[in-house]
Amino acid sequence: MRSFYITTPIYYVNANPHLGHAYSTILADAAARFHKIQGEKTLFLTGTDEHGDKIVQAAEKNNLAPQAFTDEISGRFRQLWPKLSVANDFFVRTTSPEHVRAVQDFLQRVYDAGDIYFGEFGGHYCYGCERFYTEKELEDGLCPQHQVKPAFISEKNYFFKMSRYLPWLRQYLEENSDFIRPARYRTEAIAMLESGDLEDLCISRPKSRLTWGIELPFDKDYVCYVWFDALLAYISGLGWPDGKDFAQFWPGEHLVAKDILKPHAIFWPSMLKSAGLPLYRHLNVHGYWLSNDSKMSKSLGNVVDPLETGQKFGIDAFRYFLLREMHFGSDAGFNERGLIRRINSDLANDLGNLFSRVLSMADKYFHGKPALCQKYRAEDQAVIDLCRESLLNYIQLFNEMRTSQALEALWELVRALNKYVDSEAPWKLQKENNFEALGVVFQVLLECMRKIALCLWPVMPEASFALLRQLGQQVNENEVPCADIEREARFFEPFANASPLATASRLFPRLEMPEDPAHEATAKKKAENAKSASAPAEKTGEIDIDTFKKAEMKTGIIRLAERHPKADRILRLEIDFGEGKNRQILSGLAEYYEPEKLVGKQVCAVLNLPPRKIRGLVSEGMVLTAEDASGVKLLAVDGEVAPGSLIA
Ligand code: ME8
Repeated sequence: MRSFYITTPIYYVNANPHLGHAYSTILADAAARFHKIQGEKTLFLTGTDEHGDKIVQAAEKNNLAPQAFTDEISGRFRQLWPKLSVANDFFVRTTSPEHVRAVQDFLQRVYDAGDIYFGEFGGHYCYGCERFYTEKELEDGLCPQHQVKPAFISEKNYFFKMSRYLPWLRQYLEENSDFIRPARYRTEAIAMLESGDLEDLCISRPKSRLTWGIELPFDKDYVCYVWFDALLAYISGLGWPDGKDFAQFWPGEHLVAKDILKPHAIFWPSMLKSAGLPLYRHLNVHGYWLSNDSKMSKSLGNVVDPLETGQKFGIDAFRYFLLREMHFGSDAGFNERGLIRRINSDLANDLGNLFSRVLSMADKYFHGKPALCQKYRAEDQAVIDLCRESLLNYIQLFNEMRTSQALEALWELVRALNKYVDSEAPWKLQKENNFEALGVVFQVLLECMRKIALCLWPVMPEASFALLRQLGQQVNENEVPCADIEREARFFEPFANASPLATASRLFPRLEMPEDPAHEATAKKKAENAKSASAPAEKTGEIDIDTFKKAEMKTGIIRLAERHPKADRILRLEIDFGEGKNRQILSGLAEYYEPEKLVGKQVCAVLNLPPRKIRGLVSEGMVLTAEDASGVKLLAVDGEVAPGSLIA
């Protein structure tokens, strides 16, 4: 049996868990569950990083001894995960005796191999990052992460000969294109190696300055640098050196955000190489969650509490939103309106509506026991083919951690099934007494819905079981609902149910969209402007026809669409308006459209707006869209017209 080992970062216990921690852990949970439904044996590890200055300072602030403080916060992380339906197999604490033993063993091996030396070192030390910075790395003399002036510290310390492994690492990264994914982070790691800024790694702190750490096995006056200690949790948690989990599960997959690329892409492979251990399989790097467009921070008061939000909107819906909204590797924005919009469009409208209408029709027409028939017509076969294609795409994308695109692929099927209901109109078939066609349609619908419910288990474990139960499937919450999802994708077998179908389904009710404060503010401003203006037309908010005609609006065809390199919500479009040269228009569509799917689409746009610069790129116009609670959609023309056709 294939095995799959996945880790989250080992989180610092200097503050409570927030949305960012919850996302990494939910994604790792979803990945582990996904490998389970592929029939693999999985192990999922998370934990807390409890040593170092940062923790001592946080404990002092709370008037607690470091151990009591770390026990408290580590407990909060550990207790949070099951409440978010996260089923980690192991929770490692870097203060546990097993971890301490493993770190000392590792240090001794690297020391014996001649890769650790003692030397004098002076450097700029940032307490927030718990690391030394070189002159070059500082930005205007400040720590680039914390924007504070680091302390200059000069002392004798132990160093890991990392420089010895850098040329090898560089070649390894060149030769293994998906070792770090997505590719942009591999490029970033290569740039770090090429910069010439990397030196040997200082791996000790003198006890005269810090005692809260793991004592070096070869010098009692020093403790281990917190990063060297924490990275080893990935293998100490497997019982390294001789635990059987290590033999079975290493090498594994790491999942981190872009903030800790360097220790994972540079330090950790060098450490493993020095100790003669196999490297991890992949480093999977995700972007940052922004809260209301800003970095989450206590001082801005925009830190999102994952449990509070999860409980407010439902844990499954919250998990779905996180995994659907963030494109792997890019930043994503969190706000409650976006969450409600997503729940309403995908869960209430698409998925919820499908289950509710199909189950209530099955009840009405067959009293929950449909007479199923397998004489597929072309229209049924087309849906069966789409089911196979969409599930295979889902599997491939999920395996690459591209959960957003994976769910989009699955939703193609959900939406197609709703259309199939519309076009086959079972209510008409019933009226016409066409029971054979009715049997086929329900066969196709119910079997596709069963497969969709199975696919959703990694994302929404409880909802998946609830949907399966509604479909009359025998489920046991303590077991994995499927042992081979790929087989489910490839083969379409007759639908079978052990118990009667549910008569109704209302898992995801529509949510009320609250007023948009930003929208309210602009509306108020507009109203005030209108009040103070003297022209009677403006008073009523009306414009005259000549003003309207001033807008140059034309149709165009999108020739290229890609994400803005520096703004995650924006797409860069090159649009053909029949002007001989494409125009570049930037549009906030990234949340609603996959760029690949836009190429070739006809759009409507206003062209005579002054050019606008957005994060370094110029936009020469505005694409027209319509927005409701389900999201933003491009304005379309009824039929094809030549690019550059005037809109009036
Ligand atoms: O760095 N968006 O711990 P940490 C997305 N102890 N993810 C976020 C995030 C955000 N805004 N903020 C935090 C440490 N994260 C070290 C790790 S590993 C051997 C040692 C998540 O508590 C994300 O996974 O600062 C990020 O990499 C991690 O929390 C940093 O957690």
